[in-house]
Amino acid sequence: MSDKLTPIKMLTDKEPIADRPLLVKDKVLGVGKNGKSFLSLLVGDKSGHIDGRIWDRVDEIADTFSIGDVVLVKGLVQVYQNRKQIIIHKIEKAPPDSFSKDDFQIESVQVDAHALFSELITIVQTVEAGPIKQILLDSIQDDEIKKLLLKAPAAKSIHHAHRGGLIEHIVSICRLMKSIAAHYTHLNYDLLVFGAIYHDLGKVWELEINKDMIQYSHKGRLLGHMQLACELIDKKSQRILGFPEDLREILKHIILSHHGKIEYGSPVRPYIMEAFVVASIDEFDSKMDTMFSFIKAERETGDSWSRYSEHFDRYFYLENLKGKWT
Ligand SMILES: [Fe+2]
Ligand SMILES: [Fe+2]
Repeated sequence: MSDKLTPIKMLTDKEPIADRPLLVKDKVLGVGKNGKSFLSLLVGDKSGHIDGRIWDRVDEIADTFSIGDVVLVKGLVQVYQNRKQIIIHKIEKAPPDSFSKDDFQIESVQVDAHALFSELITIVQTVEAGPIKQILLDSIQDDEIKKLLLKAPAAKSIHHAHRGGLIEHIVSICRLMKSIAAHYTHLNYDLLVFGAIYHDLGKVWELEINKDMIQYSHKGRLLGHMQLACELIDKKSQRILGFPEDLREILKHIILSHHGKIEYGSPVRPYIMEAFVVASIDEFDSKMDTMFSFIKAERETGDSWSRYSEHFDRYFYLENLKGKWT
């Protein structure tokens, strides 16, 4: 973080903001009681985030930046109903050389679901095939799905089992898919990104957080997240003009085969390379998260060896080797 900038949580009432680079994490167009439109934003950097409001020249400004962009903001901090917000007077896309990407990196412990969501949108923009890109955008930007995705866990226990865990798991797999597609250049990158994002998307309806307890919903128990994702493919693709029928089948195959084996709950095994990659990377990413959480917690004990892990059927050596011999 450039040291001249005050961390967001230290901003005070009436403090002026002058050309500060901020990442747009959310952007919603609203209409006020007086019938005038306004923009409601969530902007931040790695020190935190804050609400932003734009009241003037909204129609002119609204389309000049999107979620995921870094913008330069001029305005005034105001405390309104005990919450800080920036009343934005001027906002424009920041030139790429005017900020350091590191200032917007997500801290690892607490999940910043909004930042991950904007990263997800940026990833979807790299998809080349029109119908795949469209179904992805229509699905994750669907108001209901987006709201659920921002807080959904990825599992009841074991991996990414916390609020925001699902989007964390999805973005993690997307990042891995980028390297895999760069290495195995004969694979279809668009299908890999699709699988990364969609394979567990049905979990937004499968799992519920009730009083901080993660539970299966009735719908989730009765249908399961693969069926729910396939229904979503039908629903969304029907609204896309000329959506290819054979693509619909391939997309469903990637969803239905992502548990890899019949005994792990998939009705079919992966029969295309991209589906095999999705199933393998899904398993890998979940295992890495489970292992890391387990080891991190065990390290708190100060012992050299972990307790026995049922899940991995082994004890782990706890010394942190990162950077040890450098
Ligand atoms: Fe799954
Ligand atoms: Fe998964």
